[in-house]
Amino acid sequence: MDEVQMNEVKRALQQAATILAQSKRATAFCGAGVSAESEIATFRDPGGLWDKMDPTEVGTAQGLMHAILNKTDELIPIFEDLLDTFEKADRNPGHDALKALEDLGILQTVITQNVDNLHWEAGNREVIEMHGNLFRMRCLACGIKQNVERKQFVRTLRKKLKSLTDYSPESLLEMAPICEACGSYMRPDVVLFGEAVHDLPRSFNTAAQCDAMLVLGTSGTVYPAALLPLEAKKAGARIIVINPREDAFRDLSDVYIPQKSGEALPSILEFIENIST
Ligand code: OAD
Ligand code: ZN
Repeated sequence: MDEVQMNEVKRALQQAATILAQSKRATAFCGAGVSAESEIATFRDPGGLWDKMDPTEVGTAQGLMHAILNKTDELIPIFEDLLDTFEKADRNPGHDALKALEDLGILQTVITQNVDNLHWEAGNREVIEMHGNLFRMRCLACGIKQNVERKQFVRTLRKKLKSLTDYSPESLLEMAPICEACGSYMRPDVVLFGEAVHDLPRSFNTAAQCDAMLVLGTSGTVYPAALLPLEAKKAGARIIVINPREDAFRDLSDVYIPQKSGEALPSILEFIENIST
């Protein structure tokens, strides 16, 4: 980045800070890019999950079950990688800045497409997880939901996986958590393709009522979540897009910051703190 571009970015960061400092009802709309600096690969960047697996094949519940049973040898190393990722990952400065913005009374809600639990771990209190949470289990029979402690759960899964003597369907089923209420199998409470997103009305209402929206680290390719920035814009909110690469929301943005969210958000926070002192 040359000096002219760096000055442009600095101006954009300051503009974002000015908008947010005046805001009382900001919303952050997050995608996988927000967790990229937590070493969780995004879906569509090179090396991302959809590089290793075909979402049209394994993205649905049925497709995933079919792949688990029929392409077990291919999936086990990917599953082991995911266990590694989620055992090591921690919240990053981007998550922390969102928590600080909430504490300042600026950010009202985080709407996230991420399933990694990191917004809760950063301490945000209003988090809408449109695509669910990998670390909340849902009983397939009675529907009860139960949170699990992320790292401990991952370690337990790894132990179970190691102890399997074969990958027969019966053995693989031993990996699934059991519902304490009714004894049935549980699955992660995440949204697969073809399943309804969570909290749709609440997400749209929040977008329509916010006065500023931070659009962070999302490619905007998965609907209906990708409609939220448009909903906010239509209702008059100012749109701040943070994404190191140009993306679907660039045209919609009042301010575009071509940086990583873990870099840009702490800088914006610093500018806001300077404005208010
Ligand atoms: P994608 O993988 O589609 O997009 C990630 C975006 O993050 C891209 O626009 C990158 O340029 C950007 N990015 C990468 N590193 C970044 C960083 N450090 N800071 C900021 N931005 C960065 O992920 P999503 O848009 O979240 O759905 O994908 C949406 C949905 O597609 C996911 O929730 C998932 C997936 O299929 C379901 O599982 C239902
Ligand atoms: Zn149950």
